[in-house]
Amino acid sequence: MTSLNSYNGITPKLGKGVFIEPSAVLYGDIELGDDASVWPLVAARGDVNYIRIGARSNIQDGTVLHVTRKSKARPDGLPLIIGDDVTIGHKAMLHACTVGNRVLVGMGCIILDGAVVGDDVIIGAGSLVPPGKRLESGHLYVGSPVKQARPLTEAEKAFLPESADNYVRLKNEYLQQT
Ligand SMILES: CC(C)(COP(=O)(O)OP(=O)(O)OC[C@H]1O[C@@H](n2cnc3c(N)ncnc32)[C@H](O)[C@@H]1OP(=O)(O)O)[C@@H](O)C(=O)NCCC(=O)NCCS
Repeated sequence: MTSLNSYNGITPKLGKGVFIEPSAVLYGDIELGDDASVWPLVAARGDVNYIRIGARSNIQDGTVLHVTRKSKARPDGLPLIIGDDVTIGHKAMLHACTVGNRVLVGMGCIILDGAVVGDDVIIGAGSLVPPGKRLESGHLYVGSPVKQARPLTEAEKAFLPESADNYVRLKNEYLQQT
């Protein structure tokens, strides 16, 4: 088995310096920006729609990424779009949603179809974002279903690109070992 697999003749495309850990499995129409990283046991299927992952974003261990097919009700279906400098914690599930830039998706979060997460957002571990829910930029959300908890502090906002940078450094170390 290889990490990068084609579906309908389309194979995932990687930017410069991308790290895909060999146990991750990616299918189809997926594009990753420069310096993005995908960690052990991630499953990502860009089969019935497409997945885009921005520069310097990291998808941590055991996360599942999928999309929604075209239908009469939704002629374009729904892709999965993840912005730049995003940290997706361990074992999250992102399904056909849109995530902005500099977002931290806590471990074990579930984000459902059509949800839109603004820029500079933290979603607490174990939270559930319902279908179509919009999370306002610059805020912390927690709970199942998520509720807005408070605005992020300046320190938390500064931490979001730092978290992405930490993972860029870590994946560079992994790349040097292979
Ligand atoms: C939400 C979070 C950011 C902490 O925010 P905080 O404002 O500092 O929260 P505190 O620790 O002060 O706790 C405030 C309240 O929120 C609750 N809380 C904390 N984390 C929570 C979560 N994930 N879901 C629901 N409630 C949570 C606390 O129990 C506390 O409740 P109380 O006021 O009734 O006692 C943190 O707990 C979290 O989930 N971080 C995500 C870490 C992660 O998954 N990283 C991924 C990369 S590895």
